[in-house]
Amino acid sequence: MEYIIDKIIFPNNNLLDCIVIPIYETYKLSKIAKNINQISNNYILNILKENNIQGKINQNIILYNIPNILCKKFLIIGCGIKNKLNRDKNKLIIYNTINILKKIFVKEINWYLTDIKVNNLNLYWHIRDTIDVIEHNTYKFNRFKKNKSFFKTKIKFIITNNNDNIYRTAIKHSKAINLGIEKAKDLANLPPNICTPEYLSKKSKKLTKKYKNISVDILNIEDIRKIGMNAYLTVSKGSKNKPFISIIKYQNNSKLQPIVLLGKGITFDSGGLSLKPSTNMGEMKYDMCGAAAVYGTMYAIAELQIPINIIGILAGCENMPGSNAYRPGDIIKTLSGITVEITNTDAEGRLILCDILTYIEKYNPKYVIDIATLTGACVIALGNNISGLMSNDKILSNKIIKASLEADDRVWELPTNDISYFNQLKSNFADLINSSSNIAGAITGACFLSKFTKKYNWAHIDIAGTAWYYINNKTLATGRPINMLSQFLINQI
Ligand code: BES
Ligand code: ZN
Ligand code: MN
Repeated sequence: MEYIIDKIIFPNNNLLDCIVIPIYETYKLSKIAKNINQISNNYILNILKENNIQGKINQNIILYNIPNILCKKFLIIGCGIKNKLNRDKNKLIIYNTINILKKIFVKEINWYLTDIKVNNLNLYWHIRDTIDVIEHNTYKFNRFKKNKSFFKTKIKFIITNNNDNIYRTAIKHSKAINLGIEKAKDLANLPPNICTPEYLSKKSKKLTKKYKNISVDILNIEDIRKIGMNAYLTVSKGSKNKPFISIIKYQNNSKLQPIVLLGKGITFDSGGLSLKPSTNMGEMKYDMCGAAAVYGTMYAIAELQIPINIIGILAGCENMPGSNAYRPGDIIKTLSGITVEITNTDAEGRLILCDILTYIEKYNPKYVIDIATLTGACVIALGNNISGLMSNDKILSNKIIKASLEADDRVWELPTNDISYFNQLKSNFADLINSSSNIAGAITGACFLSKFTKKYNWAHIDIAGTAWYYINNKTLATGRPINMLSQFLINQI
């Protein structure tokens, strides 16, 4: 979508395509509605009353002619009780508006909905939310379709005060972040026969063509072996598709320590020999959504040219039960020297991540955040709208929580600081087991990782429940938590 800002004075001289006008309960007109109602000699109010459109949320009407106003279509949107609007309801109003606009043909929309007051939401975030909702609800994954349908229109935010700058900044941020989200969705929605670890590395490499201050290093299977990332290598053994680690370096400040973002990029998780049940196994193409989120965040940050240094790592690998696959019972030595007894080959995410968590010590990172579809247990604990957050540093986790509240991309912190969780990870044969009993599974996953993050401030985001969603009994990637991550990085400056 295209977003611009403009001013209009009524009565207007040139013909407009469409105006979106808010109204409140009961028959309460917004400023713009009042203005148009007056010029048209009560036309709006009369029509509303005639049709019992009181202004409740979900009460909307399209008008095609209003006297004395040069405009083809008027979309009157019910916004509920004035001054009683919260963020969720406001998002619903925007969502409803877009659904109507999808059904009628409009080239350009004069948007007055950012005028309405939403409790605890300033104009900047109102605009950010608006663009988020519009972009999310007009996204299409068309690549494999003959009929490539899409919805494209120009959104003109109409400024009524002298707040052009707030609009400009919010649009700039939103456009960059939603570009990142779109790129991540496109990557995550791809089928696992196309989106392989190598494919992830090629997409990463391409970023260097687009942004001058991005460079990319790819570690292939030989590099991974030479470095000694045995846990990583072990997971890849059952698949014909070789592992690739993409290291995307964004450098825009000569002094600062880098922030490392690490994304789980299992391009398909069959479970390996601890095979998953076939029901919904296809959803495990999304087991690379952590990597996709890192990729998308790099896009957003590079678009905004934020003056910090970020290293984004896509940990690409496939978990398959081939004849060379690793087995339950195997013992492996991780890059850190810690040995792990494999008790379940389906707990593969922590195995690829733990070696990279050791590898990145060399960057002397300020913060490390890993993003992973790590555990089904996290979905049981928090459901489909809140990601799990676990960390070894209060300052870092509080910054993440702040960004998540701002961006309305929610996380909830779970504890890791209890000996009982670590006791669950004990092995009779090695230093650790990779999968414990089924209590507190999201936490023990994080506790496993925390054994490899002693040297820096680290947070783990479990996006198993939030990385994709269900719509008409089918799935689509969400691009989460790019909004939160981008905000966290914007907040660094
Ligand atoms: N990728 C899965 C986690 C997952 C499950 C994400 C469902 C999204 C939806 C992960 O690799 C996995 O299989 N985890 C196991 C861990 C267990 C064996 C300790 C799980 O959650 O069952
Ligand atoms: Zn997995
Ligand atoms: Mn698994």
